[in-house]
Amino acid sequence: MERLVSSWCHDGALPQSYICPPETRPGKLTIPSDDNIPVINLGEASINRNNTIINVLKASQEFGCFQVVNHGVSEKLLNDTMNVVAEFFGMPMEDKASLYSEDPNKVCRLYTSKTNYGTGKYHFWRDVLKHPCHQLEACTKLWPRKPTRYRDVIGTFSVEAKKLGLTILELLCEGLGLESRYFEDDLSGALFLVANHYPPCPDPSLTLGLPKHCDPNLITILLQGTVHGLQVFKDGQWIGVQPLPNALVVNIGLQLRIVSNNKLKSSEHRVVTNSKTTRTTVGLFISSCDDNIIEPAKSLTSAAEPPLYRPFRYREFLSYYYSTMGDTELALQPFKVSI
Ligand code: OGA
Ligand code: NI
Repeated sequence: MERLVSSWCHDGALPQSYICPPETRPGKLTIPSDDNIPVINLGEASINRNNTIINVLKASQEFGCFQVVNHGVSEKLLNDTMNVVAEFFGMPMEDKASLYSEDPNKVCRLYTSKTNYGTGKYHFWRDVLKHPCHQLEACTKLWPRKPTRYRDVIGTFSVEAKKLGLTILELLCEGLGLESRYFEDDLSGALFLVANHYPPCPDPSLTLGLPKHCDPNLITILLQGTVHGLQVFKDGQWIGVQPLPNALVVNIGLQLRIVSNNKLKSSEHRVVTNSKTTRTTVGLFISSCDDNIIEPAKSLTSAAEPPLYRPFRYREFLSYYYSTMGDTELALQPFKVSI
């Protein structure tokens, strides 16, 4: 519990164990955070669906990351979600102590840095609350009891964000030429909420909130609030993802890259810290069920475009992914077909 960044970060200097190696340090560069990451108005889908499909497909092929506005999740629910999560992290330590665990197998837990605190040479400047959201009735009782609105608000957010995820997947299916319900059921049958808390940091140039990684799952819907921090690596450069009012960030995960046989890209992204403001983000990770088989969709492969990955169970992939410390190509290696 005393390892949580928020429990000791008011002490002053950045501890040595949080200093990244020189090659991954963000440094003092000001990162352009302009209009580079596509912003897609999903409200237009009802007027010009084909155009929306083209936009979503193009963003997923080029960036693996985009923002959506007019996405159907209400402003009130976004605000309630952000507020209740910020309230959770703002509670006194004794109210959160029972949730703290360094055991990656604990299903609902508060932890810090990354999945395994003990592995790796240095730590990351974030505290995290992670728990499953499906089946809702069965898992809400594992969630925090306080703030009292937590279960209600996050339950609704998980349902609405999942719905949005499926809508985006449906648009992608139509764009790729897959049957529109391809990802419903088992391929999107698991849901996790990851609430990240990045306290103000004494030296943002030396440390990271999260190192460069691709999300391992199918697709992630992220509420990033109003504070800068998320960056996407594209063409050898980091691009800031501009916080926009009521927008949600969408990240294409590695499963979607695999099922699309590399027609879609998973964004490589990281989180930088800042010295002034606490940053809170809430991600809904839509995933395959652990025992489900993942493989390139048959209708996207042919003699001319053979499958680039072998079939495997998601469980097998995940445990390997967590051992590769964010090296995407290494994480995919055992699952690639050698041609
Ligand atoms: C993640 C992630 C981004 C953020 O949790 O995988 O990329 O801005 N979060 O918190
Ligand atoms: Ni991520």
